[in-house]
Amino acid sequence: MHVSGTSPVTPVTVLGLGAMGSALATAFLDGGRPVTVWNRTPARADALAARGATRADDARQAVTAGELVVLCVLDHTAAYATLGAIGDALKGRTLVHLTNGTPAQAREFAEWATQRGARYVDGGIMAVPPMIGGPGSLVLYSGDRSALEEHRAALELLGAARWLGDDPGLASLYDLALLSGMYGLFAGYLHATALARTEGGSTREFTDELLIPWMTAMMSGFPDWARQIDSGEFGPASSPLAMQATAFVNLIEASTAQGVDPALMIPVQELLNRAVSAGLGDQDSPALATLLSGPGKEPVR
Ligand SMILES: NC(=O)c1ccc[n+]([C@@H]2O[C@H](COP(=O)([O-])OP(=O)(O)OC[C@H]3O[C@@H](n4cnc5c(N)ncnc54)[C@H](OP(=O)(O)O)[C@@H]3O)[C@@H](O)[C@H]2O)c1
Repeated sequence: MHVSGTSPVTPVTVLGLGAMGSALATAFLDGGRPVTVWNRTPARADALAARGATRADDARQAVTAGELVVLCVLDHTAAYATLGAIGDALKGRTLVHLTNGTPAQAREFAEWATQRGARYVDGGIMAVPPMIGGPGSLVLYSGDRSALEEHRAALELLGAARWLGDDPGLASLYDLALLSGMYGLFAGYLHATALARTEGGSTREFTDELLIPWMTAMMSGFPDWARQIDSGEFGPASSPLAMQATAFVNLIEASTAQGVDPALMIPVQELLNRAVSAGLGDQDSPALATLLSGPGKEPVR
């Protein structure tokens, strides 16, 4: 079967109707697409059926109904379980797989799906369910580019669609990289507010008046960090790592003395100490990148 390409009537199938899958299906319905849905626990399709989605009896029937098949379940084990009994139903269809996973899992899934005749696009959703279809929603994609472009109009109903390359693992790699940035930010925020409130201060006031402006000012240096990391040439240090390692001892000691668990900060202290031991004490923060990974390589685009 040759897939005809996205038109407003291109039928879409959504497999997996958890919080995210339901939001995806809702966005396709709101965009006027014919949508067929299936979920392991059938009751989760009720609300979507009431909004006009067609409910399939099983995953095979659901896949057969769609030209664009979107899969979004808990993890890759669930993804294989969902598609395990569909036989050759994927043949000629585009499978867009939005389940969170690792680059290796995405590549393995791409092979599994293409062996069954599907055109495979992997994706990473950079949004929470209420954001889907709204202005802040972004979905990263990699894999079969022509399949993505054919269905771009439909996929943009979910959020902005950012293409990363032919390697199906790239969307997952960048998804996890962005999540790393988010969790690092969350860790810093949580430790900072825990420390500040030990003397009875208002977390709200500290956050609004001091922490957000401070973190924003610090982030404005990232483009210059990125330039240095890309070039491998690190500029003169205004905040040498040896000085930072010394000051960091105070951060850990004060946290402990104030009754705040320093667990989130200890890995940073260890990295600073490792940098000094490695002879990087006179360099600035971007040089820490050399301790975390090698020179890296250009993504295949
Ligand atoms: N929610 C978010 O904020 C968010 C943001 C970005 C990305 N994501 C990613 O989106 C994916 C789905 O997340 P979610 O929030 O929708 O999770 P969720 O609400 O917990 O839903 C999990 C889904 O996976 C299905 N499932 C679990 N195990 C299964 C199995 N063995 N066989 C078949 N289906 C199975 C569930 O079916 P049942 O209903 O039958 O249990 C349900 O449809 C995850 O990979 C998540 O990391 C989520």
